[in-house]
Amino acid sequence: MQALGNKKVLLGITGGIAAYKSAELVRLLTKAGAEVRVVMTASAQKFVQPLTYQALSGHRVYLDLFDAEAESAMDHIELARWCDLLLVAPASADFLGKMNAGYADNLLLTLCLASKQSVAVAPAMNQQMFANPATQENIKQLAAKNVLLWGPAEGEQACGDVGPGRMLEAQQLCDKALQHLSPGRLAGVKLLLTAGPTREAIDPVRYISNRSSGKMGYAIATAAFEQGASVTLVSGPVALTAPGGVNLIAVESAQQMHDAVLQRAADSDVFVACAAVSDYRVDQAAAQKIKKSSDKLSLRLVLNTDILAAVSALEQRPFCVGFAAETQDVEGYALDKLKQKNLDMIAANQVGAGNSGFETDFNQLEVFWRDGRHAIAHASKTEVAKQLIDLIAERYTCARS
Ligand code: CTP
Repeated sequence: MQALGNKKVLLGITGGIAAYKSAELVRLLTKAGAEVRVVMTASAQKFVQPLTYQALSGHRVYLDLFDAEAESAMDHIELARWCDLLLVAPASADFLGKMNAGYADNLLLTLCLASKQSVAVAPAMNQQMFANPATQENIKQLAAKNVLLWGPAEGEQACGDVGPGRMLEAQQLCDKALQHLSPGRLAGVKLLLTAGPTREAIDPVRYISNRSSGKMGYAIATAAFEQGASVTLVSGPVALTAPGGVNLIAVESAQQMHDAVLQRAADSDVFVACAAVSDYRVDQAAAQKIKKSSDKLSLRLVLNTDILAAVSALEQRPFCVGFAAETQDVEGYALDKLKQKNLDMIAANQVGAGNSGFETDFNQLEVFWRDGRHAIAHASKTEVAKQLIDLIAERYTCARS
């Protein structure tokens, strides 16, 4: 089933240059399975033609409170009741002000006033207009009236200014709609995750690292987010883009990863240690580039703190899931780590042979917990991650009940 299957979204578009982004939003929401109907204000029509949204949504666009044809299809009260979510994107300063004051002199304002369903607004305006106390006051008061505020983002604006006021990207708004409308199995769960390799400095230009691509961890972050978790991803250096909606903390060394994780662990519900953390670091990284001076060079390595073991030893500890990458006796070593590190679950995989594990797009896992096990068959990392998140949700729910 699609993520937004059977969900109905009424998308209100007000006057602003960001209206063009809403065309993409209609496409993304529709692709996710939602039925989308579009309402435009008069000024929105100055930026984009209704026909664009009609073609993308597959339905006529609602324009006027007194549009006889539209009224006969579905009157405005019916339309307000029809939707699961009324999302105004872009929401101009003028619209937010009128909405806050309870005006109903156009179709979209009337719908906002008549809707008993969730109403979300995605502000889009010049940064000075956004910063104006009148706008700030309107936004504060709308939030107090349970209107959901999605954005704005900071950045370069159409007028050349830089600052907060840009509408969120279509993908971000679609993710928010998804999270709001289909809470998923991990709704309300704070999930902390490590991914990728770490880099241990030898000198300012050299480091020790490993072959982890981060793909498995990033796939788990996406799967957890899709199941409604609030995800914080502490990632070593990888060539991947963080999944939309996930809070990314970029780190380099095992020590930095440790600090970033320990700062957040006690406040998390689930911790998944997917990173290939370097077990050792160089004792004293050189402050200057090491010059070649002799035939042999020795590096003295010292053990890094085990992040996963440190989290699982916390007094207020999250549900802990570890990984075990092994080249032999996968089950024996995995069960050993489950016990030694006092984990709730461990996902083990064979590395170094075949088309799974490091640097590939595929994986297969053998997952163990104290009194059970489950095999996740060879598949894409995206698929394996989905199944692992389902299993984590199941075990986590069991552990809490
Ligand atoms: N891990 C960690 N911090 C470390 C080392 C490992 O959090 N300093 C986590 C990994 O993210 C993984 C699990 O511990 O979830 C197992 O890591 P692995 O390297 O396979 O095992 P080790 O415990 O380091 O033991 P060994 O290298 O001897 O197999």
